[in-house]
Amino acid sequence: MKILVLNGPNLNMLGKREPGIYGAQSYADLVAFIEKSAAEEGLEADCRQSNHEGTLVDWIQEAADGYDGIVINPGAYTHTSIALLDALKAVNLPAVEVHISDVSKREDFRQVSYVRMACVKTYMGLGFEGYRQALICLKEHCGRS
Ligand code: DQA
Repeated sequence: MKILVLNGPNLNMLGKREPGIYGAQSYADLVAFIEKSAAEEGLEADCRQSNHEGTLVDWIQEAADGYDGIVINPGAYTHTSIALLDALKAVNLPAVEVHISDVSKREDFRQVSYVRMACVKTYMGLGFEGYRQALICLKEHCGRS
């Protein structure tokens, strides 16, 4: 099973960015964690990060060919992007939403998630572990379908 793992804006700044909220580990550390977790589950993870909404839309569209599921942390686009929601709906692949922080306990403007409407599950507040849980969820979800 091949999973596309997308990270949105500012997630390339992990480790430097608000470490009290997002932790001390870098984006490279996150990619290493995801690739190791995927290998342990017998999955292949293709990790990509972009600060640009349209690039994320393009990658979601491309996933229709050759991928079995999508893990997505859209960063701040979570709370604003109908384009990402529409792209996820358009490709009709199982998708799981991940947030490193627990957005449910943060500002009011973080309480909306558009992509959630196209996701089978959301993990938040688990740090990097949320990505591992998302991979396992997709493995189980796809095994059932
Ligand atoms: C985030 C939460 C978002 O609200 C924020 O804009 C991010 C990161 C998280 O992983 O906790 O950039 O998605």
